[in-house]
Amino acid sequence: MKNRLWGGRFKKEQNPLFMKFQSSLNFDLRLYSYDIIGSKAYASELCKKGVLSEKECKTIIKALDEIKQELDRGKHKNRELEDIHTLIEVLLIEKIGETAKKIHTGRSRNDQVMVDIKLYLLDEMINLKQNICSLIKTLVAKSKKYLSLPFPSYTHLQPAQPVLFSHYLLYIANTMLRDGLRVKRCFLELSSCPLGTGAISGNAFSINRERLAKSLNFLSVTQNSIDTVTNRDDLLDVLYAIAVIGVHLSRVAEDLIIFSSKEFDIVEIKEEFKTGSSLMPQKRNPDLLELIRGKSARFISNLNRLMIVLKALPSGYQKDLQEDKEALFDSIDQIKIILNLFTQLIQGLKINEKRAREILEKGQMTATDLADYFVLKGIPFREAHRRSGEIIQKLEENDLDISTVDIKILKKIDSVIEDDVEKFIRIEGSINRRNVTGGTSIQAVKKTIRYLEKQLNKF
Ligand code: ARG
Repeated sequence: MKNRLWGGRFKKEQNPLFMKFQSSLNFDLRLYSYDIIGSKAYASELCKKGVLSEKECKTIIKALDEIKQELDRGKHKNRELEDIHTLIEVLLIEKIGETAKKIHTGRSRNDQVMVDIKLYLLDEMINLKQNICSLIKTLVAKSKKYLSLPFPSYTHLQPAQPVLFSHYLLYIANTMLRDGLRVKRCFLELSSCPLGTGAISGNAFSINRERLAKSLNFLSVTQNSIDTVTNRDDLLDVLYAIAVIGVHLSRVAEDLIIFSSKEFDIVEIKEEFKTGSSLMPQKRNPDLLELIRGKSARFISNLNRLMIVLKALPSGYQKDLQEDKEALFDSIDQIKIILNLFTQLIQGLKINEKRAREILEKGQMTATDLADYFVLKGIPFREAHRRSGEIIQKLEENDLDISTVDIKILKKIDSVIEDDVEKFIRIEGSINRRNVTGGTSIQAVKKTIRYLEKQLNKF
């Protein structure tokens, strides 16, 4: 009955298949450094309370450091044990014998596992924030480069109005800014220390939880021991934040797949992010973007998976909760790679300026500006809308576009029109008329850039 932390009231060995089935070691092994940090802090607190002597505490801490180094080197990875907490305690016992058997006094794996996860997540949220920051910075840099380049916009995937390419890039940047703030909000929940709540009712050795929390760099302690071992809200928050990033990026990926298709051909994705076809020699497929779009399903289902585990679960620790980790690790691993690759893809993204112009000059995209022109001539908007629509209809019949048409032709169609219509209906004119905060004029875009740069400094 060695190799497990319990067994006094058991007569038989565990069923070997069940042993394998219930073990989380192959996925919670990655928490080892956090488990060791938590155990070192806990040992020090036990020492302050006289449960461990100074000498015992030093021996334990030294052995834990050695175990950490051994695990760093890849040792001990194939042990058949229940989980990472068991592995470290077993290794400690193997190393220093009887003294090691005191480390778990008053502690439970139920509070221990939450310390490990929270410490892990605090680190990972810093990484995620940095990934998001680099993406926003890349988008801002790119939008400065293409500050005044006109680009088509779409609603219902039909030509809508001209915008600046920088404006489009800043759409993504603003989305990412919200995602970054959502990630930042996760810190609050994560920063309260669960250690010292025991199995369910609290620690019976009157340890100083506040001091213990401080030694682990937590800002506070959790306030109810039942809640602490039952709660997985902080994991849900993280999974939700990642799922939203995934959904955002899936939408941008879809845009870029469309914009880079042969038919649109407005943007060009670097070849290093494409793959070929095993059969059709001509193909160069945007697989990276397709995978970014596809993996959003995974992020949503990881959030769902934990929600479903938690639904109707009784209070207190239940082994079902062990199912929280694989979903969490998967979302974190995948989103970090995606953000990194997507940032590189944006860095290398090229614009086919000629093609963008062609599309802009074929979509009657300044029809709204013509209606606005009529409004400024005193015609109510609904009437101006109809009047502009009729003109567009005529232009289209003659294969002309409102953004490039000769003003003389317009004047012939509608007697209200004068030469001053020019600055309304040309692409650049249309863009620069939208000079409100959040609009697409060059001035407005510059303002958004300043806003984003300011927000980034606060990150
Ligand atoms: N491996 C477990 C998990 O990940 C650790 C907590 C186990 N606690 C227990 N009482 N069995 O949830």
